Amino acid sequence: MLKLQKNYSLNDLNTFGFDALAESFIEIDSRDLLVEVVEYCQSNNLPLLILGGGSNLILSDQISGLVARMLNKGIEIISQQGDQLQLKVAAGEGWHDTVVYAMSQGYFGLENLALIPGTVGAAPMQNIGAYGVELKDRVAWVEVLDTQTHQFLSLSSLDCQFSYRDSLFKSVEPGRYIITDVVFNLTRDATQLNLEYLALKDTCEALAKGSSITPYHVFDAVCQLRRQKLPDPAIIGNVGSFFKNPRVSVVEYERLKAEFPALVGFADGEGYKLAAGWLIEACGWKGKQLGAVGVYEKQALVLVNHGKGDRRQIETLAEQIRESVQQRFGVLLEVEPRFYP
Ligand code: EPU
Repeated sequence: MLKLQKNYSLNDLNTFGFDALAESFIEIDSRDLLVEVVEYCQSNNLPLLILGGGSNLILSDQISGLVARMLNKGIEIISQQGDQLQLKVAAGEGWHDTVVYAMSQGYFGLENLALIPGTVGAAPMQNIGAYGVELKDRVAWVEVLDTQTHQFLSLSSLDCQFSYRDSLFKSVEPGRYIITDVVFNLTRDATQLNLEYLALKDTCEALAKGSSITPYHVFDAVCQLRRQKLPDPAIIGNVGSFFKNPRVSVVEYERLKAEFPALVGFADGEGYKLAAGWLIEACGWKGKQLGAVGVYEKQALVLVNHGKGDRRQIETLAEQIRESVQQRFGVLLEVEPRFYP
């Protein structure tokens, strides 16, 4: 018998801090329990939401079916050769705690991704990324339960179809696979740094004061940059970037750049990625409030909950922002977090 909790409040389990009540709730700490939960939902025809840190999720106030929070734990080295090692981390481990643990052991590669909220199991969903590194650059494979066959599988980085803030899990076959563990390729070589993001390089140089830059400087610099620009969800509700940075063709970029010389964009593959934060700020939204929700005053790409906000208010605000960006620049913004249901 599953120990389900009825009418369970998810208020503290979503970083927007929205009021949300789950019809049923359970915490999962083992693979066996996960299989039991999936079988229970399938035989009773109940929707199942797997919850990680709730940091990329926009919930309705009533959630029917079962909400299951992944809380399986464990971090272990599963292979090593020379400086290279593979670290297997359970889905229920906190993302930032994992980065801190890896740094404390001298395992490098995750430092650019410090301070991202959420759990390890949620990270592959949207292929988290920051300061020049994406999760996909560090993933060896992802271990999952296939809810169709009830088999545990290892999906290679390629199988996961990672792309910018997207994956197999998010948009190709949503709901089919439940992530149980992620295996990372890390290194003990402290000289392999990614400093391509300019402000990161500058901050690292300031921290290193003339000595050579280490992964610990990168970690500290990323924490500093994030704290300057991004709201701490423990203090002000948010889900990080609310929109993706839109991709446009070279022709479109050149047309926009001619009309708006201050436009911020970066060459990306065959086109350009525009800074959505710049587009939103240029439409006058930065720091604006609409009811209890608003646009963060230091980073226009982040929408915030000032207290009693809810999904409806966020949807209205997001729609108004999308419309004004579309009207002014002819660019359609795509929402980044997941709405459930
Ligand atoms: N900008 C503005 N006004 C703003 C915000 C940004 O003009 O209000 C311009 C600035 O010129 C800035 C440029 O946009 O130089 C880029 O801004 P920033 O470096 O803050 O990065 P971003 O493109 O806004 C992306 C990620 C962030 C990640 C940072 C750093 C997406 C959707 N967001 O934001 O990820 O931390 O780069 O790498 O790609 C997240 O996904 O939740 C997230 C926070």
